[in-house]
Amino acid sequence: MKLPKLITQTKPFTPNIEDYFDKIRYMFDVSWFTNHGKFVTEFEQKMAEYFDSKYFVLVTNGTIAIQLAIRALGLKGEIITTPFSYVATTSSIVWENCIPIFADISLTNLNIDCSKIETLITDKTSAILATNVFGYPCDFSALKKIAEQYNLKLIFDNAHGFGSKKNGQSLMNFGDVSTISFHATKLFHSIEGGGISCNSKDTYEKLLLLRNFGHTSPISFDGLGINAKMNEVCASMGLCNYPYIDKILITRKNQWQYYFNHIINKKITKLIYKNIDIEYNHAYFPIILDSEITTLKLYDFLLNNNIQTRRYFYPSLNKLNYVDYISCKNSENISSRILCLPLYFDLTEEEQSIICELINNFKIW
Ligand SMILES: Cc1ncc(COP(=O)(O)O)c(C=O)c1O
Repeated sequence: MKLPKLITQTKPFTPNIEDYFDKIRYMFDVSWFTNHGKFVTEFEQKMAEYFDSKYFVLVTNGTIAIQLAIRALGLKGEIITTPFSYVATTSSIVWENCIPIFADISLTNLNIDCSKIETLITDKTSAILATNVFGYPCDFSALKKIAEQYNLKLIFDNAHGFGSKKNGQSLMNFGDVSTISFHATKLFHSIEGGGISCNSKDTYEKLLLLRNFGHTSPISFDGLGINAKMNEVCASMGLCNYPYIDKILITRKNQWQYYFNHIINKKITKLIYKNIDIEYNHAYFPIILDSEITTLKLYDFLLNNNIQTRRYFYPSLNKLNYVDYISCKNSENISSRILCLPLYFDLTEEEQSIICELINNFKIW
């Protein structure tokens, strides 16, 4: 059955509009739209509490969060990273004048394969930058062990990880630095936005300078900085969405479980996340097909039925035209045949049921 209107792969959560208007009205009353205003300050505090971070810095987006993390840690040379992530993970490394060295991924959870890292370490390696893919944690203890043994910094791109926990701890509290995105496509958002958590006061103070042009006072500077300040309009959206976090996470879990139970096409592989010490946020529902041809056919078939899926992540980042190619068979293979299904707060069970039926009846084999 074709759906009457396009079901997009993602759709931003919308809070109570009157709550948002109240905040916009306040901004007009006080004529204060940016530069560490009331709402930015409040949102930053709320996120620091939610993540239980020792230090948390709110910024404009999840990409600049990674870039500032690389700067604040003073990274140079080579950074070992995952090829299976969004382009921002790799582009941030290159933007910060470092060289990405790709370690292939595990086929179990699509995160960086820790056993592939050590052979890539050279005297130029300064850090490991790994992504908690689809909000599922990397093998933190294995990565920490390698980082300590070789004196490397450890950064987690936790753009997808809002609400996920490991041993009761937010994923924002692992490694030297963890970053997050509050982009409108994420399960919790502030329209555009991002943040950085760290344990070191020194790193925190560097991040504060980096975020605000290097200002130490209105007329003095300490080092090079950039403008990465969040504005009041975005912070207000974050604050308005904040009371709904639990509802969003529960809804997402039920929707995820619905797909898991109802997609029964034997040719489709679903990721199975089983780990007692992990509270998963159910951020994405990826399906893996048998070949790229089938994947493209299913993508078109669903789109013709008004269902948008996303090839996420595609391409494998070791194939970008501004990096030195290193073969990563698992990442190249998975990224050619993965699709993320529609998943957002307003998606109804009826819509999910139609999506599942179409996928289950999809026959081109
Ligand atoms: C894994 C990953 N890293 C980084 C980013 C960048 O975040 P932003 O869009 O907030 O800049 C994204 C955003 O989609 C992402 O998925």
